[in-house]
Amino acid sequence: MMPELTIVVPTLNERENVPRLVERLDRVLRGIAWEAVFVDDDSDDGTLEVLHDLARRDPRIRYIHRIGRAGLSSACLEGMASSSAPFLAVMDADLQHDERLLSDMLEALRGDEADLVVGSRYVDGGGMAGWSGPRKMLSRIATLLAKPVLRVRLEDPMSGFFMLTRALYRRSVRRVSGQGFKLLLDILASAAGAVRVKELPFEFRNRVSGVSKLGSLVMYEYFLLLADKLVGRYIPIRFVIFCAVGCFGAVLHLSVLGSLLYLAGRDFVFAQTVATIMAMTVNFTLNNIFTYRARQLKGWDLLSGLFFFYAVCAVGAFVNIQVAGYLFGLHVPWWGAGLMGAIIGSVWNYGVSSIVVWSRQLQPRPARRPRSKDPARLRPRRSAGS
Ligand code: GDD
Ligand code: MN
Repeated sequence: MMPELTIVVPTLNERENVPRLVERLDRVLRGIAWEAVFVDDDSDDGTLEVLHDLARRDPRIRYIHRIGRAGLSSACLEGMASSSAPFLAVMDADLQHDERLLSDMLEALRGDEADLVVGSRYVDGGGMAGWSGPRKMLSRIATLLAKPVLRVRLEDPMSGFFMLTRALYRRSVRRVSGQGFKLLLDILASAAGAVRVKELPFEFRNRVSGVSKLGSLVMYEYFLLLADKLVGRYIPIRFVIFCAVGCFGAVLHLSVLGSLLYLAGRDFVFAQTVATIMAMTVNFTLNNIFTYRARQLKGWDLLSGLFFFYAVCAVGAFVNIQVAGYLFGLHVPWWGAGLMGAIIGSVWNYGVSSIVVWSRQLQPRPARRPRSKDPARLRPRRSAGS
């Protein structure tokens, strides 16, 4: 039977939780034609093997193995894109979301009571008993900040547990930013036309197995999403961060240059060279952490990326100086010529480094799969001499 409901489940190292979740879905969704699509971002704890086994045994289970792409929201979107069911749900794999809510959510959508049903911690009957005071507080603040981009009244726009109609998916999917991990908020802020929302309470459970993947920069990513929803239409938010990093680099450059010249008494060319290299290196590092978070370079790629970045910036500086010199020659005032040069240089640096340094090209990842299953690895390695 064709599924009426697709449940999209993002996974990143959830080996233990996946089979338990499937069992529970099977139990609570009797009589409903459902399927689950797990979207895994190349877990290295054996989750993929578990998913593969399940999918071979149960036609309701599918999975997508994503390589070279990352991020909770984009994973969920990819799962949705693979579905042809009239109703789509998103739910965490770690059993923190109450699966018993799914049938009520479906009921509300079938009855056309809403376009979207949200599993909510902040309506009567909902909660999150296991959360510490500060974490609750942070969640509350994030919820308040979401108000300007939300056009509907919703107590828990941060929820990662919701179900929507295919029609709503269609009218938001072309505009969602897919950045970060707040897909619900993203969808609501992107949908064309009014959205009818219903909230159903549930108790957010504690995680039993595995660890949370939402790390220290989660708040930062959240701000990016908000900023993107507010001004992203006019100017790419990534470019704004890139420029902020660039401004920081310029300040650093001038401070190093000044100190070397006047405090250390070095000559200008030496001071300028040191300041330039330092500023570029710091810029590269900051861009790698903030601007290109989703495509972050690591290990050896970091080193080669740094050298590519130097090369790109060198060309950018050359273009900058050429343009500024030309304009100055045309009697454009010094600050106008200088600014124009800097802007064109930045656009160049941004555009080219995003392609050359932080390309989307797939970096082959060293396999860290359970080794015992690979017979080639079991053979003892012989060194040339023995
Ligand atoms: N494919 C993929 N890619 N899955 C991911 C990624 C990723 O980059 N990051 C996390 N996941 C999966 C996890 O494996 C888990 O199934 C689910 O997404 C949620 O991740 P957690 O790490 O457990 O997040 P959390 O419990 O801290 O946050 C949850 O609750 C928040 C409510 O405060 C999530 O549901 C958030 O979306 C929600 O806002
Ligand atoms: Mn969780």
